[in-house]
Amino acid sequence: MSGSRLPGFYKLSVAERRALVAERSGIELDALCRALEAGGIDVTTADKLVENVLGTYALPFGVALNVQVNGQDRLVPMVVEEPSVIAAASNAARMVRRAGGFTAEMSEALMIAQIELRGLADPELARRRLETETEHLLSVARGAVPNLVERGGGPRSVELRRLEGGRIVVHVLVDCKDAMGANLVNSIAEAVGPIAAEITGAELGLRILSNLSDRRCAHVTCRVHPDDLTFARAPASPVSAAAPDPSPPSDSAALDGNVIADGIVAASQFAEADPYRAATHNKGIMNGIDAVVIATGNDFRAVEAGAHAYAALSGRYRPLSVWRRDGLELVGEVTLPLALGIVGGTLRVHPAARLALGLLRVDSADELALIAASVGLASNLAALRALATEGIQRGHMSLHARSVAVAAGALGPEVEAVAGRICEDGSVTLEAALRALSALRGS
Ligand code: MEV
Repeated sequence: MSGSRLPGFYKLSVAERRALVAERSGIELDALCRALEAGGIDVTTADKLVENVLGTYALPFGVALNVQVNGQDRLVPMVVEEPSVIAAASNAARMVRRAGGFTAEMSEALMIAQIELRGLADPELARRRLETETEHLLSVARGAVPNLVERGGGPRSVELRRLEGGRIVVHVLVDCKDAMGANLVNSIAEAVGPIAAEITGAELGLRILSNLSDRRCAHVTCRVHPDDLTFARAPASPVSAAAPDPSPPSDSAALDGNVIADGIVAASQFAEADPYRAATHNKGIMNGIDAVVIATGNDFRAVEAGAHAYAALSGRYRPLSVWRRDGLELVGEVTLPLALGIVGGTLRVHPAARLALGLLRVDSADELALIAASVGLASNLAALRALATEGIQRGHMSLHARSVAVAAGALGPEVEAVAGRICEDGSVTLEAALRALSALRGS
């Protein structure tokens, strides 16, 4: 059994899962449990993180299994409130690993500092002046982030863009190494801004990073053999529906892998043809990515903003991933900006975010981005596979049934019993759960 394969994991209790993950990751069990106490952050720490704190707000912290990226197995922490996201990503990652796992690379890893110069009477002249002063601008930029420069990062180049209305935007491209880099990039923008305005005689406008970090893109591809697409959720209980380790269902003969693969390609083409579908398709990708981004204490709003701006960069909103057949195999690829960090920010203070990075065993921000993008592609594959076959509701509802059972007051083993009952009856509602619970308790 390799690093991220843990058959039967879903059947274990939370305590047993913690013990197994501690053993597998080499993290001390005590440390793992402590990091997850009280939702991973205590109120005193929370009070230092943001303002006007009243308390904390926890979300489920789970792990995706079966994920293999560039030949390395990863246990991937995911923080998400939506049922089935973690199970679906684990299932899809298992299909992908049978064909060699995810292949992932970063295009470059540069952030963009933007400086807006306004009110230029002769923008072309201003552009030429800035061009001749590029080295000067870069040296001012370096002076703003001496520690980053010492770590081998820092400003790399300057690009100039002319906009309508007598505006020039200066882009300083910055290698932020293992930081997401928002503060570093903003410091550079604020240091370079007045100099650029002086050189051009412009009115100085905004100085801030761009969240469309299209010079820091992750690109992931994967292949799946059609036979592996016929592995489906076991139909019985909500728990088995959540199984990250499915076995072929008894009706697998009815599911033709080629038909499913073609259905996934058709779903991809629908998203390519229609922005309304593309938004939902991309939401399915971000289900996986955001969960990893949040677990690791990164800025998911920045990632979301960048992803959707990138999806619309051609002037038309498009899917971030595309699926096609290559001979027999199904091939998927995703590209999107992913500005993530493994140092600084929330990471310093949030124990569960530190634990998440420990589980991932990443050495660089790039590695983290590649894993997150791979989980995004896995989530997308799982969603399209479900949509191309049984539809999304069956799996969703059976998992949702557990939350409904809890809302009805079910405790311990009652949760599964009530959830199973209301699923079987095809009525996943609070009223049905209350009825099932009182029947169970014999009242
Ligand atoms: C639900 O969270 C995500 C999906 O809507 C994605 C998709 O439609 O591709 C199932």
